[in-house]
Amino acid sequence: MIDLHSHILPGLDDGAQSESESIEIARFLTDYGFTHMMATPHFSKSFFEIQADTVNKGVATLQENLNLQAIQLKIIPGNEVYFDSIIDENGGLASFHFIDQNQKWVLLELPFHRFNFMLFDHIQYQLSRREIGILLAHPERYENLLDDYKLVKKIANQGVLFQINLGSLVGEYGRTSQKFAEKLLSDDYVFGVGTDVHQITTLQKNLPQALTRLKKMIGDKKIASMMQNAFQTFKFE
Ligand SMILES: [Fe+2]
Repeated sequence: MIDLHSHILPGLDDGAQSESESIEIARFLTDYGFTHMMATPHFSKSFFEIQADTVNKGVATLQENLNLQAIQLKIIPGNEVYFDSIIDENGGLASFHFIDQNQKWVLLELPFHRFNFMLFDHIQYQLSRREIGILLAHPERYENLLDDYKLVKKIANQGVLFQINLGSLVGEYGRTSQKFAEKLLSDDYVFGVGTDVHQITTLQKNLPQALTRLKKMIGDKKIASMMQNAFQTFKFE
């Protein structure tokens, strides 16, 4: 299985705070069947702006440590890019890390609270003219989408992919997000899942039940095809 969204790299953003916590997270995930994990620290001009070269260094160090401890988890470099930070002040792409080998997909984060959705349309246009696709991080957490399912359908039809957080399936972000994540799953709008892990404690609390819930909702076969799809789309090894 692949985790499409995590803050496992230590000491970079508000995620794992030490190398030992990162290793604990990795070990826990492998215990639950994960073989790959995308490391997606925040890239935001007003929050944490963890640039691509820093991500690459962090991944190399963590991977080395995992290998030394014989933890079988492949870490793939990426970023969770805040929507207002994708384009730099010169109108070019900012120095974030794509989530795929061909540099064609970005994991995008939107404001949780209602905002002018024209800004999303603008970003989408900027990216699509560069032939870059959007994997939208946790759509179940955005007011704009929670309030307007037509908008979900619209952007899905435009090719935006959805990554839900596993914790959402057990109410980590409240009942509304849980219901919404379940609806996206049953309507087959979910491209893939992520832990969005920041701390080991939350992961330990929610992951086991969340995976049980996911299996119950869509079954092993569908989960397997979801994973295969991610590998094909992002060209992971
Ligand atoms: Fe995140």
